[in-house]
Amino acid sequence: MDRIGLYWKHATAEAVGEKHGVTEKELKELTTPLKNLTKQFADDRKAGKLRYRDLPYDEEMVDAIHREVEHFRDRCDTLVVLGIGGSALGNIALQNALNPMTYNLMSDRTRPGPQLFVLDNVDPEVIRSVVDLIGPRLKRTIVNVISKSGETAETAAQFILFRDLLLQKLGKKYKENILATTDPAGGTLREICNKEGYRTLEVPDGVGGRFSVLSAVGLFSAAMCGIDIDALMQGAAAMDKRCKEADPLANPAAMLAAIHYILNNKGKKISVMMPYSSALYSLADWYRQLWAESLGKQNGLRKENIFAGQTPIKALGTTDQHSQVQLYREGPNDKLITFIEVERFSQKVAIPSSMKESQTLKYLAGSNFQTLINSEKLGTEYALLESKRPTLTLSFPSITPQAVGQFLYLYEVAVSYMGGLLDINTYDQPAVQLGKDATYALMGKGGFDDLARKIQPVARRDKKYLL
Ligand code: PA5
Repeated sequence: MDRIGLYWKHATAEAVGEKHGVTEKELKELTTPLKNLTKQFADDRKAGKLRYRDLPYDEEMVDAIHREVEHFRDRCDTLVVLGIGGSALGNIALQNALNPMTYNLMSDRTRPGPQLFVLDNVDPEVIRSVVDLIGPRLKRTIVNVISKSGETAETAAQFILFRDLLLQKLGKKYKENILATTDPAGGTLREICNKEGYRTLEVPDGVGGRFSVLSAVGLFSAAMCGIDIDALMQGAAAMDKRCKEADPLANPAAMLAAIHYILNNKGKKISVMMPYSSALYSLADWYRQLWAESLGKQNGLRKENIFAGQTPIKALGTTDQHSQVQLYREGPNDKLITFIEVERFSQKVAIPSSMKESQTLKYLAGSNFQTLINSEKLGTEYALLESKRPTLTLSFPSITPQAVGQFLYLYEVAVSYMGGLLDINTYDQPAVQLGKDATYALMGKGGFDDLARKIQPVARRDKKYLL
């Protein structure tokens, strides 16, 4: 299998100077902590913890997904996924990376699976447009509702709506068009499934939302849309082997974390992920959640008020060269930029030679878009290096399920190392709850009356500040 590569020279002191790059001494100081973490992760796995690390080997889970795909595929032209955060970002990333941008526009005959809509927001205009579009085809629409807890307001509201639509159209048979992906044992959605008799897949116990892409959460819609999920899992398993290396210099996840950690301490509080590939752009969205929710913590495991975290940003090459790179080169030197490059695109696309008479454009004549995009990436890397801005490059040999599986697993493990170095709980998200509770309060959910009263002054607009 072709391996994805991590090139880190341009994040070193040798390349960008000691103030902005990683020194050998700093790396050496992290060798023991990283080795300890590698050992701790191995022990945790043996003790049945860190469940996400074992997903690539969970044949039972993959078989269950294949069974559901088999069941639903021929009775479905449209698949609607209802979920948010970790219950949607992986689905979107897989679909955009591994199916063509024009997937939903392809004819039923050429498309390798149903049209896919992942509704990861409650914007009424989007919802109305999807409902209007699929209304006439509801009979052949499958709704995959994904919620570990079953209580997330956004997903619950969408589910109530789509369940009603199916019920109106199909009567008692409506439940045949629903697949719920949820907690194996508890939670509101599981209760509803048991009562109403839907088919279900499981969000494995001990796997948090942002670590769930390689479970039924992300894999069912991918497999329905023709993505080779077995190859994805092979890629993840291959990366698992690399991430078990005791020597951090041979372990890409440990190195990614070490570099981010050292540079975060040197004031690189922003981590930019910049794929030079439109298909891989949504991986950066998935990464933003993983990095932000896992690492943004007020309290550490042993110390309070440490306010850990590094702000993840996404940018798209080449598009954002014309939008962001001015800032990245001349603004505050507070960023570590990770490029994602594709060594071999599946298409080259020649640039015709018809302008070869033009003095200014003839350099393009006879070249191709693959060479252009990769030259632009290298050009930007060089320009940033000139400005002493640290960069990393992750190379995809080509965009395949194996490579995407490696990438997803790599970053999941890297965030575990990063959380370990920061000495925080990587797997919780306590700060998300207050906003959720406030929404419950505003929407009138029982038990939130005190909070509703507290929110009232915020809801009242003070005219003094209103223009
Ligand atoms: O990563 C997370 O834990 C969150 O983003 C959740 O996935 C998100 O809040 C949705 O939760 P649930 O699956 O319970 O509906």
